[in-house]
Amino acid sequence: MSQAAPTSTNPSSALAVVILAAGKGVRMKSALPKVMHPVGGRPMLAHVLEVARALGAVRTIVVAAADAEPVAELARRWDAETVVQDPPLGTGHAVLAAEGLLGNFDGNLMVLFGDTPLITPKALSPLLDDLAHGVDIAALGFRPSDPSGYGRMVTDGERVLRIVEHKDASDHERRIHMLCFAGMLAGRAKLIFDLLHGVGQRNAQGEYYLTDIFGAAHARGLIATAVEAAEHLVAGVNSRRQLAYAEAGFQARRRGALLDAGVNMTDPATVYFCADTVIEPDVTIAPFVVFGPGVRVRRGAEIRAFCHIEGADIGEGAIVGPFARLRPGAELGENVHIGNFVEVKNTKIAKGAKANHLAYLGDATVGAASNIGAGTITCNFDGVNKHKTEIGEGVFIGSDATLVAPVKIGDGAYVAAGSTVTENVEADALAFGRARQSVKPGRAKAMRAAAKPKERE
Ligand code: UD1
Ligand code: MG
Repeated sequence: MSQAAPTSTNPSSALAVVILAAGKGVRMKSALPKVMHPVGGRPMLAHVLEVARALGAVRTIVVAAADAEPVAELARRWDAETVVQDPPLGTGHAVLAAEGLLGNFDGNLMVLFGDTPLITPKALSPLLDDLAHGVDIAALGFRPSDPSGYGRMVTDGERVLRIVEHKDASDHERRIHMLCFAGMLAGRAKLIFDLLHGVGQRNAQGEYYLTDIFGAAHARGLIATAVEAAEHLVAGVNSRRQLAYAEAGFQARRRGALLDAGVNMTDPATVYFCADTVIEPDVTIAPFVVFGPGVRVRRGAEIRAFCHIEGADIGEGAIVGPFARLRPGAELGENVHIGNFVEVKNTKIAKGAKANHLAYLGDATVGAASNIGAGTITCNFDGVNKHKTEIGEGVFIGSDATLVAPVKIGDGAYVAAGSTVTENVEADALAFGRARQSVKPGRAKAMRAAAKPKERE
């Protein structure tokens, strides 16, 4: 906010972020902690941790519930600290739980909610700008299409005077105050903790509300402001419906960003990405493709319709699908072709190799320019352990071969169609592993003549 004078002193602008993630999430009706529910294939909390990192937070504290070990584990992976709030007595109480770790922190504190996964650093940085211009508490507000459930920001047009929670608001307040609190705010760490010590729990939910610090700040003559954000950035997830809505918002954002980055999609609305999906420019993706976690698709590759791809690295110019399934550890080199109804798991396929129809390649390596015939199966599991199949370069595996691992097929070898291969095949050999065909002339006719039709009952 530009009206306030810049501060004359020069306080530390170091940033600490506190992410609230201890709520019970009862509306999700789930055994999984709410913030661990995925959006774009990773927990909502991870999205918020990424935002804290992007904002340059020097410390990030996740406030977790007593029994939420997965939450603490995820925080560790993002170099964040965890503090336990037990029992969870409201959002104000949750922020105070971080006081033990941040009480002496001489810098700004930003509060984020673990259940608001679509927030971006760009939407939050105006809060820090306001602090730099002398504002004491800056909060993110928005105007939801349906404001029910959200805290209403009571302003004088410029400053926030207080926030009334939906459950505590009068009908009049619900009608006129349409600017709602998005859950994110920033201020000096010491000030926020100080204000929170004055917050009680006499309200409709018997909780310590974070939102009560605005009334307290106003009473002290401090300046609180609201920065408005678009609804799709701050939508909170409290129910499965809202989770689905957040997922749709995430997908729309990723599709748009990838189109802008040079990825070609015929019908983007039918293609689903994860937060970590990497697609290079000039990749073409046909309709109805799902990317699970851990996928990279390199320049010029083509993903045809109806593929499910996770944990895979797809090389330049490769063609995958239609109807292919790539599972974790699938590594396709340049110009590899994987066709319809082919499943690839933990298998490295070198440049120019092809498996175009109805095959299972698991725990295998396939050398450059080899051709895997229709119906080929690597029998990688003996009921107890997994074993490797090693296929060399320029190998031809005939249709309907079963390669019983562990087994090696040398460079340039041929495996005859319909073979069951249980022993290694040396380079340039031709291997048969099937019964020799025998033909009895006239036998079919004789059998027909000998067989008397049974009388119908
Ligand atoms: C909160 C705000 C409301 C705002 C809305 C925006 C308060 C009192 N209300 O309501 O003004 O419009 O978010 O989405 O702040 N949590 C804890 N410990 C607790 C309670 C909650 O860590 O004791 C965490 C939850 O895990 C969640 C976040 O705080 O990540 C918000 O809690 P939630 O119960 O969802 O608050 P809302 O009812 O959505
Ligand atoms: Mg919420």
